[in-house]
Amino acid sequence: MQPQSQAASRSLLSRFTALTDAFAFPLRTSHYLELVNPLWTTHALQAKVVAVWDETADARTITLKPGRNWRSHRPGQHLRVGVPIGGMHYTRTYSISSAPERNDGCFTITVKAINGGRMSHHLVRNIKPGDFLPIGVPQGDFYLPDANPVEPLFITAGSGITPIMSMLRSLVAQERLPDITHIHYAPHAYDVIFGQELAALAAKHPRYQLHLVYTREPGETTAEKRHFSATTLDSVCPDWRTRDTYACGPQGLLDAVESHWRNAGVSRQLHTERFRAQVAAAPSEITSGTVLFANSGVSAASDGVVNLLRLAEDNGLNPPHGCRMGICHGCDAKLKSGCVRDLRTNALLNEVGAIVQICVCAAAGDAELEV
Ligand code: FES
Repeated sequence: MQPQSQAASRSLLSRFTALTDAFAFPLRTSHYLELVNPLWTTHALQAKVVAVWDETADARTITLKPGRNWRSHRPGQHLRVGVPIGGMHYTRTYSISSAPERNDGCFTITVKAINGGRMSHHLVRNIKPGDFLPIGVPQGDFYLPDANPVEPLFITAGSGITPIMSMLRSLVAQERLPDITHIHYAPHAYDVIFGQELAALAAKHPRYQLHLVYTREPGETTAEKRHFSATTLDSVCPDWRTRDTYACGPQGLLDAVESHWRNAGVSRQLHTERFRAQVAAAPSEITSGTVLFANSGVSAASDGVVNLLRLAEDNGLNPPHGCRMGICHGCDAKLKSGCVRDLRTNALLNEVGAIVQICVCAAAGDAELEV
């Protein structure tokens, strides 16, 4: 359907639902439309899985057709995706890997199955075309500026490539690919997500310099060669201090990059995107205990390390949550008694009535929460 006729039919549907809402009370017309086609709803945004594609043995690209109220993303942004698994509703945040210039109304996320990752395994192994997933709108400030970035440096590892892939695809689509140096870390060559596309891009565009580092490949013997190091950076990209740098990957890589840029006094040139909250090194003594989720009467043994949201889910509860990384406050719960530890700072919280972000706090001994 042409964009004009799509807009016209959307406007017609909006007028129709505005008229019929009075008859649908206490629900809204949108709730009934959901039964016919989840993409027609306006009270919640949904997307239909239209294709899946295995990028590597443990990473899959899912093409999604969003419903009404969707707005396009900026390259590098992420969104929330919900999945029902075993009667529970889980939400995670994923970067969009496609370019906004895509003209079929769809976008893609690329998910890597991580160890112990309930939802990532479900998305990589079980999701199939025809499924519907609740989604949020694109968010985040990790994106390219409107003006052409000055010779960007991309540093990525594993699935940290996904927001950068959206940026690269967008720059190619707009035919404004600047001089780019890209350092990407993966365990082996066969683990490189988008490996073929990146290689083709490097072959076609001499301005795009790709440096792949294999962290578990036999032959690379020193830790310095396998992981981020000042020596490698200086040799691969001697002018890194003057470049706009975009980095995305696991905490170890981002901590090292941030520290290096900070020590060089050029932190303002660095933009990072984290998939998880930045946690502090665990204290030398960790107290285990019992957590009582008071609203449900469920109690659970805590090792003092696992966050309270995960602990609740592992014990059959389904507390509301959003980002799972301490940003949105969608998981806030009241502390009724006991003590919890903020995993980002190791600060202890034991004030009765204090609000606890359960996705980034663990119990420090016994605790009781309004969950
Ligand atoms: S889920 Fe967003 S802050 Fe906990």
